[in-house]
Amino acid sequence: MIKDIKYITREAGKIIREGFGKNFSFEYKTNESNIVTEIDKRAEELIKEFITKNFSEHSILAEESGETINNSEYIWVVDPLDGTTNFAHGLPIFSVSIGLRKNDETIAGVVYDVMADNLYSAELNKGSYCNDLRLQVSSEKNIAHSLAVTGFPYDIADNPEHALELFTKIIKKTRGIRRLGSAAIDFCYVAKGVFDIFWEVHLNPWDICAGQLIVEEAGGKVTDFKGNSIGLSGTTILCTNNQLHDTMIRELIF
Ligand code: IPD
Ligand code: CA
Ligand code: CA
Repeated sequence: MIKDIKYITREAGKIIREGFGKNFSFEYKTNESNIVTEIDKRAEELIKEFITKNFSEHSILAEESGETINNSEYIWVVDPLDGTTNFAHGLPIFSVSIGLRKNDETIAGVVYDVMADNLYSAELNKGSYCNDLRLQVSSEKNIAHSLAVTGFPYDIADNPEHALELFTKIIKKTRGIRRLGSAAIDFCYVAKGVFDIFWEVHLNPWDICAGQLIVEEAGGKVTDFKGNSIGLSGTTILCTNNQLHDTMIRELIF
């Protein structure tokens, strides 16, 4: 099945790459910061057509069109374009993210960093890869030597879960914080050992599902801010190289 997920993730990536830098139509979602382009929709349609044709009995949860619920133990969790704001502004950092869950457990995840042409993948208990290269999280134990990444939700004006105060606090503790604009790529960079820490409030299942498995299979940890495991409904995540997890839980107490 991982071969199928990799195949369709790359195919969706082709649509996005061809659309990058061209004119496209878009609509507002919840507010003027939150847009969806015709390319997000076309990529999602392609992925859904593939699943429906090849795995017709499976359920699907996809960002732009919602749920297709069948009586199946399998559900595909799809973000057709993670990093839409970057895409729309010509910044080449965005991805396609597809996770596959069986009986409430993620068994496979693929994230395609479209412009870098890097395909990240993981299967449960089989490790994580970037293309053919096995991934391993960093071994950094000292938060003062760590590089962190975070993101901000589209409702940041309401400062949910004290997101702005947390940013101000954590930036003073780490070597630096980056904001790439694609949560799925943020996870992959933790899996790769580039970032030691990633946290964010108000994510959605399609931002998390594939990336979480990729991090865990590379030796990292993903929980909520209190250290509890997150299921498909979790929105607030702390993702680390494992070594810095307890330190970050203490820092995230507000
Ligand atoms: C967004 C990106 C971003 C994160 C936002 C997400 P989208 O997803 O992952 O990095 O900060 O919270 O909503 O809307 O580009 O698919
Ligand atoms: Ca997303
Ligand atoms: Ca998206």
